Amino acid sequence: MAERNPLVIANWKLNGGIDLLCTSVAAFIGKHFETDIAICPPYIYMRDMLNFLQHSEIIVGSQNISKYASGAYTGETSAKMVKQAGGGLCLIGHSERRQMFGESNASCQIKVNQALEVNLMPILCIGENLQQRDAGVTKDVLFKQLEETLGEIECSGEQLCVAYEPVWAIGTGKAASPDDAQNIHAYIRCQLASIKGEDFAEKVRILYGGSVNKDNAADLLKNKDIDGLLVGGASLDAEHFMQICKVADAN
Ligand code: PGA
Repeated sequence: MAERNPLVIANWKLNGGIDLLCTSVAAFIGKHFETDIAICPPYIYMRDMLNFLQHSEIIVGSQNISKYASGAYTGETSAKMVKQAGGGLCLIGHSERRQMFGESNASCQIKVNQALEVNLMPILCIGENLQQRDAGVTKDVLFKQLEETLGEIECSGEQLCVAYEPVWAIGTGKAASPDDAQNIHAYIRCQLASIKGEDFAEKVRILYGGSVNKDNAADLLKNKDIDGLLVGGASLDAEHFMQICKVADAN
């Protein structure tokens, strides 16, 4: 069995300013965690966070990257820029980007490639919305997202993570139940084995996201196919996020 070290990522979305964000992570400085912990602030704060966190083990990541490497693309930030700034990972295809900014599986595929080319770890976010869930097509939606994004990508399972984030669970306070999440994670791993091979599927970390908090983190992480968490709202509260990381460490 492959060892998959847990990974807990804070997704700060469009929240700030820098004082609030630094207060949120001050408690992590000088602390050791077995779990890999990452924070994705708005791009503009990445450098500040990296400076602020230089004596910590926390990885700083971005919430998105451009699908372009360079050129006349106003407002964009490339994977290479994130990497050069000191970033370690990037979220790709978060549902808010799919819903509000026209992100597609095709653009996600390009972005995953851009990230891999510069050694930035892509965290590919997938998930069904409420309508799709109610129509009973969750697995079809997830398979299509995985297939169309990763089918042609060349990488090993350690170079990338998948985050399962049911859209109906994001920011709603209604997380998937640990059993339902485990079932879906097992399905995702099984489909990844068919798309990318057994070795890839064994090694890839599959994170759960959607209304994760300190009270449900342990029950989610107990499951064998849940390798970490992507945390939105609860990561903005320093004490709360620390509790989630401690739960992951104790797991
Ligand atoms: P939430 O967000 O924890 O606030 O539900 C998760 C996410 O959007 O990544």
